[in-house]
Order: sequence, then C-alpha cells, then structure tokens
Amino acid sequence: MLQLLFGFVFLAAVSQLVSLTGAQSECPLQLDPQRVVVRYGGSVAVNCNTSVLHKGMGWEASEGRVSMTKNQSLITWRVSNLREWDITTHCFINSNNSTQCQVDLPVTVYKTPDSVFISTVYHRGPMMEGQQYELQCDVHNVAPVQYLTVKWYKGQTLLHQTNFTDTIKTPVNETVTLLIRPDRADDGAQYWCEAELDLGAEGPQPHPTNSSKPLNVEVYYKPKHSNSTETIIQDDKVMLDCTVKVNPAPTYTWDHLKEKNNSSVLKSSALSPGKYTCTATNTLGRDSKVFIVKSTGAQSECPLQLDPQRVVVRYGGSVAVNCSTSVLHKGIGWEASEGGVPMTQSQNLITWRVSKLTEWDIQPYCYINRIQGAQCQVELPVTVYKTPDSVFISTVNHRGPMMEGQQYELQCDVHNVAPVQYLTVKWYKGQTLLHQTTFTDNIKTPENKTVTLLIRPDRADDGAQYWCAAELDLGAEGPQPYRTNSSNPLNVEVYYKPKHSSSTETIIQDDKVMLDCTVMANPAPTYTWDHLKEKSSSPVLNSSALSPGNYTCTATNTLGRDSKVFIVKSIGIRPTFWTVLTVFQLSIALIIVI
Ligand SMILES: *[C@@H]1O[C@H](CO)[C@@H](O)[C@H](O)[C@H]1NC(C)=O
Ligand SMILES: *[C@@H]1O[C@H](CO)[C@@H](O)[C@H](O)[C@H]1NC(C)=O
Ligand SMILES: *[C@@H]1O[C@H](CO)[C@@H](O)[C@H](O)[C@H]1NC(C)=O
Ligand SMILES: *[C@@H]1O[C@H](CO)[C@@H](O)[C@H](O)[C@H]1NC(C)=O
Ligand SMILES: *[C@@H]1O[C@H](CO)[C@@H](O)[C@H](O)[C@H]1NC(C)=O
Ligand SMILES: *[C@@H]1O[C@H](CO)[C@@H](O)[C@H](O)[C@H]1NC(C)=O
Ligand SMILES: *[C@@H]1O[C@H](CO)[C@@H](O)[C@H](O)[C@H]1NC(C)=O
Ligand SMILES: *[C@@H]1O[C@H](CO)[C@@H](O)[C@H](O)[C@H]1NC(C)=O
Ligand SMILES: *[C@@H]1O[C@H](CO)[C@@H](O)[C@H](O)[C@H]1NC(C)=O
Ligand SMILES: *[C@@H]1O[C@H](CO)[C@@H](O)[C@H](O)[C@H]1NC(C)=O
Ligand SMILES: *[C@@H]1O[C@H](CO)[C@@H](O)[C@H](O)[C@H]1NC(C)=O
Ligand SMILES: *[C@@H]1O[C@H](CO)[C@@H](O)[C@H](O)[C@H]1NC(C)=O
Repeated sequence: MLQLLFGFVFLAAVSQLVSLTGAQSECPLQLDPQRVVVRYGGSVAVNCNTSVLHKGMGWEASEGRVSMTKNQSLITWRVSNLREWDITTHCFINSNNSTQCQVDLPVTVYKTPDSVFISTVYHRGPMMEGQQYELQCDVHNVAPVQYLTVKWYKGQTLLHQTNFTDTIKTPVNETVTLLIRPDRADDGAQYWCEAELDLGAEGPQPHPTNSSKPLNVEVYYKPKHSNSTETIIQDDKVMLDCTVKVNPAPTYTWDHLKEKNNSSVLKSSALSPGKYTCTATNTLGRDSKVFIVKSTGAQSECPLQLDPQRVVVRYGGSVAVNCSTSVLHKGIGWEASEGGVPMTQSQNLITWRVSKLTEWDIQPYCYINRIQGAQCQVELPVTVYKTPDSVFISTVNHRGPMMEGQQYELQCDVHNVAPVQYLTVKWYKGQTLLHQTTFTDNIKTPENKTVTLLIRPDRADDGAQYWCAAELDLGAEGPQPYRTNSSNPLNVEVYYKPKHSSSTETIIQDDKVMLDCTVMANPAPTYTWDHLKEKSSSPVLNSSALSPGNYTCTATNTLGRDSKVFIVKSIGIRPTFWTVLTVFQLSIALIIVI
C-alpha cells in the first residue's frame, strides 16, 4: 500500500516535469529557405537569423560548418560542391539564460538517372496479337528514389506509373515492368518509359525527366475483313476488292479461279453473276469474304412472301414459317434438309414446319415456278442458338490475396454456346460494367470461349466481387430480354499497407476524447505507441490519461507501416496546477497512512 502510494507521488511529479518541457516556446531562429533541394555536386547557401540577444550562434554540419559567433544575428551555411548524400545540418543558438536550442535544416540531395532503358523481357521480334508480353524499364543511378516516378507511355498516352517508398538517400537502380497484350491497332506503336523526379516546391521546375528511347512494336495478326459479304452490281468501274490490312502481308485466293492468283482485286464486269469467295491467308490464319455479283438488267423480284422473314430458334425448339404468293404459278414448295414441303400447284400458302430443330446450319428456301419466266426462290435466314452450359470465372496463375497495385489476370470460360457471333461476354465489378467482348467468327455450331481481363486492384477493391456474364443478343426476332448467363462472383481480397488519412492530429485533453490510431489495412495491422514498451497495444488511448506532449503511434502489417503523431494539449486550466494539487493531496494521504 505504502509502495503504491509512493509510486503515485513519483508518477505525478514526473508528469509535471513532462508538462513543463512540453510548454517550452519555440527556438528563436529563422532559416531561409526552410528546406533545400540540391543537385549532387551543386552549391547551397542558407541563412539563419535571430532577433534576440544571445551568447553565440552557429551552424553544425559535416560540410560548411560555421563556428559559434557572438556579435552577429545572421549567419550563412554555404557549400559550393555538395558531395554528401545524407547530410544533416542545424543552426543553433545559446540564449542569454544559457539554454541551447537548434533548428534542423532538411536537405534533399538528388541526382538524375545516368540512363533510362526500355526492353522486352524474354522476347525478340514481332509480337502475336492477343498474347501477353512483359516490358521492362531500367533506371540507373538515381537518387532519392522516394521522389521518383516511372511512367509508361504508348505514343502520347500515359499507361501506368509507379512510385517508390524506400527512403534510402544514395543512388539506386530501379527496374519496373509492365504487362501488355497488344492488338492489331498496336502494330507500329511506340512504347517508352520516363523517369521523373518530383522534388517538391523547393525542387527544380519543371521536374527533371529522362526518357528511354522508344521501343517499336510490330504485331502479327490474322486477316479479318470488315464485312464478310458484299453485294456488287456489275459495272466496268466496280471492283471486287478483297484487300485487307494485315501483318504479315497475306496471299489471296479466289474459289472460281484455279490458279493461285494473288490479286486481291477483280473487275466485276469480267465475271458472270453469282457468288465469288475470296480468302486472304497469312501465317497466322485466314479469312474469307463473299461477293454476290448481280447483273445490271433489273430483274423483277421473286413474287413470294415469307412470314416471318427471319427466324431465331433454340436448338431443339420448334419453328413454323409461311410462304405465300398472289400470282398464278405452275408449282410452289419448300426445300430444306428438315421439314421440306413438296411442290404443289393447288395452294398459294405453304408452311415450313419443324417441331424439334436439331441442325445447326439449316438453309431452307421457298421456290415458285412462274407461268412466264424461270423458277425463282427466296431464302429463309435461320439462326439456331444455344445458351451456355456454364459460365465460369477464375484467376490465372494466382491464388490467395492480391497485392495492391500489382497486375492480375482474370479468365471467363463460356462453355458450349452458339452462335458466338451474337455472344457478348461482359465483365463486372459489383454492379459496374468494366469491359465487354464480342466475337466475329461466323461458325454456327457450339463453341467454348475464353476471355481474359487484366486488373490492377487497389485498396478500395478489397472485398470486391468480380463476375462475368454471357449474353446472347439475337436481334429483334430473338428472345426478349436477351438470354444472359452469369458466373458465380469471384471475391477478391487485396492486401495493402496502412496509411493514415492525416499524419498529425491535435487533441485537447478530455475524458471523452480518444487518440484514435485505427487505420484500414489488410492484413489487419498491429499498433505500437512510442511511449509504451509493449510490442502491440490498443489503437485507441484516452487523452485524459496522458500528460500533454507528442505521442506517435505506428500501425504495421506485413506490407508496411505508417505513423501518426498526436499532439496532446491541456485544456485552458494549466495542468501544472492540477499536478501540484494531486502531489499535495497524495502527500497528505501518505502522511495520514503513516
Ligand atoms: C510536437 O509536434 C509538433 C508538430 O509536429 C511540433 O511543432 C512540436 O515541436 C512537437 N513538440 C515536441 C515537444 O516535440
Ligand atoms: C529573420 O529575417 C527576416 C527578414 O530579415 C525577418 O522578417 C525575421 O523576423 C527574422 N527572424 C528572426 C527570428 O529574427
Ligand atoms: C565580431 O567580434 C570579433 C571579436 O570581438 C571581431 O574580431 C569581429 O570583427 C566582429 N565581427 C563583426 C562582423 O562585427
Ligand atoms: C542578455 O545578456 C546581455 C549581457 O549579458 C544583456 O545586455 C542583455 O540585456 C540580456 N538580454 C536579455 C533579453 O535578457
Ligand atoms: C530562456 O530564454 C528563452 C529565449 O529568450 C525563453 O523563451 C525562455 O523562457 C528562457 N528560459 C528561462 C528558464 O528563463
Ligand atoms: C505518385 O507520385 C506522383 C508525383 O509525386 C503523385 O502525383 C501520385 O499521386 C503518386 N501516386 C501514387 C499512387 O502514390
Ligand atoms: C547499378 O547498375 C550499375 C550497372 O549495372 C552498377 O555498376 C551499379 O553498381 C548499380 N548500382 C547499385 C546501387 O546497385
Ligand atoms: C536527365 O534529365 C536532366 C534534366 O531533365 C538532364 O540535365 C540530364 O542530362 C539528363 N540525363 C541524361 C543521361 O540524359
Ligand atoms: C460494310 O457493311 C456496312 C453495313 O452493312 C456498310 O455500311 C459498309 O459500307 C460496308 N463496308 C464495305 C467496305 O463494304
Ligand atoms: C504475286 O504477285 C507478285 C507481285 O505483286 C508476283 O511477283 C508473284 O509472282 C505473284 N504470285 C502469284 C502466285 O501469282
Ligand atoms: C489475276 O487476276 C487479274 C484480274 O482478273 C488478272 O488481271 C491477272 O492476269 C491474273 N493473274 C494471274 C497470274 O492469273
Ligand atoms: C468445350 O469444352 C468441353 C469441356 O471442356 C469439351 O467437352 C468440348 O469438346 C469443348 N467444345 C469445343 C467445341 O471445343
């Protein structure tokens, strides 16, 4: 009991001492400028002045020291060729009442990089469309890396930038990488990177930047015509133009020409009416285009009416289409691999009907034998569709939490869907549409499709749900609303460093006011306070339990740490008074006990 009381008295006395130190006024020195940024090897001069009488003032520094002088109020720290990376310097003053105080000068010594170099990692020569490549940017011998930003550009477009958190002051080499997935539009693009030093308001303006040489990218891709069919009316001046821009350059073949004619252009007037198919081929693939050549002689239309004029049917579903005519005829019929209607003379309306359509590429047409003139026909466009068996989302080559700022690849697998020409795969984060992909293949049977998405999650994405959806938009004749199948959500966990929204906070002591160091971070941080010895403690302290002063709290997780300073001030009534009172009361208590 006695010991406990003595402990209290001692603690109270100590807290009074702390509050006295905390209440001291500022050092009566002014630095001009208050912070300097100097090129390595450059010169620097900073004034230190005072308006009070003193017993001496000087500059302490490993270079350019100014020894203590008594009869001056302005002294200058000056170095003409600064060759120290981690220089610390301060101006000090011995005031009349024999206390010394000092003001530190923050000095930033910088060096622009010797070189900035861009290269491709593990790859030479042309890139293939849709594949992933890694670019690398090497920045040599730059300081301090804390103020460095490495930026990636394609042409004039900023793609990405990286900052560094190391606080090392001497020059370092930095390597940053960028994943790219070039497409045909990127053939001939120039990638480059740039190192920028943003040294703050006191630093050089504009910011020193050094750029790499441009890296010219050649992309190989398959031929792809913008239109897969084109109707041509014969004319001396009209050409069947199969030319397609592609790398490497393609060869061309025409189905009606026996020899390999590599011309991409044919004259329409040299051909008889009909269908002509041209195929452009390069080392990566091929693409065909159909030209329908019609004669100029304006032929009368075929007197048949289809209702509806186009059909969209689920695979295995039923379909019925009427074909009617208002003219006299020698016979009318439906030709089809399923549900054909034999020629009849007695009717003006016949129906093509299939109750369970199980052919992907069915091409029915209705024909009529006119009394005068030849047979003519009208084709019925049929689209047979199938919704996917499954839509599945996954992460490529990765498991577990993602790191903030790094790049990851998501994959969406759509199984067994047809026809992919009408398929759109959409990517969502929560309710936000991120990206969508459509397909140009005109294959009619079911296909599996895999699409990928590159993401670079940040702290706001922790807990986000990514998902993909396969939508079949089959046009006005198709089902409404569109058939949509969605994947399960992929829950993303993001690891990120603690970062307080403000680095200092001033607190007026009060029973209800807390020093709250709590900060969002993943994994959850541990907290330490500079005045407490424990390895981890509560993020929240009650201000009334502390004496005025500065308290630094540090939040730490596996990725990094961040500190926050709380400046605790006493309320209007001077704490000294209360402390003295407490000491007094406790002393009386002690005496009574004794
Ligand atoms: C407390 O922090 C403030 C702001 O950083 C500073 O101005 C003050 O000098 C510090 N006081 C002590 C006692 O360290
Ligand atoms: C230092 O000099 C400047 C300009 O001469 C003056 O405004 C300032 O008050 C001086 N500072 C001190 C602490 O004397
Ligand atoms: C400061 O005082 C010293 C010694 O009293 C004298 O040698 C020096 O010239 C004085 N300097 C100035 C700037 O008055
Ligand atoms: C400081 O001391 C000097 C001489 O010791 C005296 O002339 C001066 O008045 C004192 N100044 C202050 C502010 O105490
Ligand atoms: C000593 O001098 C400084 C500057 O003049 C003043 O702020 C401080 O209160 C003085 N301290 C004492 C103990 O007199
Ligand atoms: C990187 O540094 C630049 C320049 O200092 C700044 O504008 C940008 O916000 C920083 N980016 C990140 C992610 O910290
Ligand atoms: C940076 O790279 C250069 C050349 O590769 C090397 O000579 C130098 O030692 C490296 N510097 C550091 C700090 O690693
Ligand atoms: C880097 O840029 C600075 C200015 O932005 C320039 O003075 C320096 O010569 C450049 N360094 C190289 C290696 O080009
Ligand atoms: C391709 O088709 C679109 C729409 O059907 C048409 O507007 C465009 O002119 C066509 N392009 C060519 C090169 O035939
Ligand atoms: C293709 O055209 C080039 C010139 O355009 C010609 O040299 C070559 O012999 C042609 N090849 C064929 C197979 O016609
Ligand atoms: C290819 O076709 C063009 C146009 O029809 C013709 O002028 C040319 O002679 C043909 N070339 C060969 C090698 O057949
Ligand atoms: C689609 O994937 C399934 C399962 O992996 C497989 O059985 C099927 O043959 C694939 N279909 C096509 C058209 O590749």
